[in-house]
Order: sequence, then C-alpha cells, then structure tokens
Amino acid sequence: MGLWTRITRLFRRPEIAKGDFSTIPEHIAIIPDGNGRWAKKRGLPRSVGHREGSMALKKVVIYCSDIGVKYLSVFAFSTENWKRPKSEVDALMDLLVEFLRNAEKELDGSNVRIKVIGDTLGLPAELQQEILRVEKLTGVNDGLNLIICLNYGGRIELLDAVKKIAHKVKEGKLEVEDIDEKQLENCLYTAGIPEPDLLIRTSGEQRISNYLLWQCAYTEFWFTPELWPDVNGSHIAEALKAFELRNRRFGGISQ
Ligand code: FPP
Repeated sequence: MGLWTRITRLFRRPEIAKGDFSTIPEHIAIIPDGNGRWAKKRGLPRSVGHREGSMALKKVVIYCSDIGVKYLSVFAFSTENWKRPKSEVDALMDLLVEFLRNAEKELDGSNVRIKVIGDTLGLPAELQQEILRVEKLTGVNDGLNLIICLNYGGRIELLDAVKKIAHKVKEGKLEVEDIDEKQLENCLYTAGIPEPDLLIRTSGEQRISNYLLWQCAYTEFWFTPELWPDVNGSHIAEALKAFELRNRRFGGISQ
C-alpha cells in the first residue's frame, strides 16, 4: 500500500474501528436497494441513482475491508432486472464496466479480490471481457473477496445445480443415495464461499428477491430505510452492532 493511500485512509473513516465489535461476520451479503427512489426524490434520472449507488458501494467495500470482513456479496443485477427499460439496463451495464475498469485504482491498497457470479454469458461482451480481466488481475489478492452477483437469480442457480447433479448421476459418476447438501453446494455458483452471516437490505423493503436462496438458510437479516446511495460505513457499523446481539442457534438451543 502506498504512503498516500495509507495517509488518506487514516482520515477517511473515523466511524467505527474493528475492535469496536465483539464479532465480525465472515460474509456480509447486501441487497443495495433504493437507487431509483434516491434519484426520483431529486428529480434526476434513475441512472444517476445507480451511479451514486456505485460510489456508495466503493465506500462500503473499503469499510468492510478495513474491519476485516472476508466476503462481501452484492446483488448488482438480477435475472429479473432485464424487465427494466432498455435505457436503464444499458446505463447499468455501462456503469458496471466502468466500476470494474476503475476498481483496482479506486480500491487501491485494499487488496480486494473481485469475483462475479451469475449467468455472465448473458451479459454484454464488453462487460464479460472486463469481468475476466478484473478477476484475473485481482485474483492474486488475499484481502476481502468482493462477490458481484450479475445476471444472478437464486432459483436458476439451484436449477443449474440440479442439472449438474443429474448429469453426474446419468454419467455414473454419482449415486442418487450420495446426493447430499455438500454435493449440491459444490454445484452452486458460490461453491467454496461460506454462507452469508448477515444480509443487509436497504430502502425499507423486507424481502429476499431471489437472492442466495439456499445460502441464506441461517443468515441474520438486517433492514434499514436508508436508500442505498446514502449508505456508508456508519450504517454497516449499525448493522454490525445489531448482529452482535443476535443469538444464532442454527436450529439448536442457546448455550
Ligand atoms: C436497486 O435499486 C439497485 C439495482 C437494481 C442495481 C444495483 C446497482 C448498484 C448498487 C450500483 C452499481 C453496482 C455496481 C457493482 C457498480 P432500484 O433501482 O431497484 O431502486 P428503486 O427500488 O428505488 O427503484
């Protein structure tokens, strides 16, 4: 990390430090909702809300990286988001290309490793190329894993997993009796990524919207009325304070 990066980081986030939490979730999943409403409130095009949203994301990535979160997954574009007007979809795709193109510069010194999950083959060619480039470039980093879910849907992910398993059975590589949770997890896009400990959804909506359906079986949920572009490290700190008080029993009983 360069000297300038170190100096600016010292002044950037006075909010809350790592030591202020008794436990830091290993994996935080985020549904960054409310970009459109943020823009509408200001009489601006929705694309401006998404742009502000991408800046909020950078702040949150750096904050999470600083406090030692290992995995941060963000629902950036769902398999259902294609229903939006073409102009909004195009603006989002352009923004994603831009975000990835500038990621290493903007997240400089954060040692962030970027991985994209979802049906990437359904994305514009330019975005696919940028994904491959940034994944390769940041693949050597061993800090926070930023998982960007693009053209992602929990149901299609499960269907794909079922098909992979069916093929293994058909080819005689797997016995039906041996199909278990581990087998299925290994066929999900998130294979190798721990389940989210905490899911944060902004903008006051309180639903899962086809996000990480299997993976969120025992995830703690935290909702805030804040619109995503207004979110920064202090809101994540608020979520972490709430998370500390949760009693996670995973179907068992309290100690
Ligand atoms: C939800 O707000 C947000 C999205 C569908 C896109 C998420 C995009 C970002 C956070 C910014 C870009 C991301 C990256 C990775 C660069 P909405 O449009 O549904 O808002 P609304 O519910 O107020 O209409």
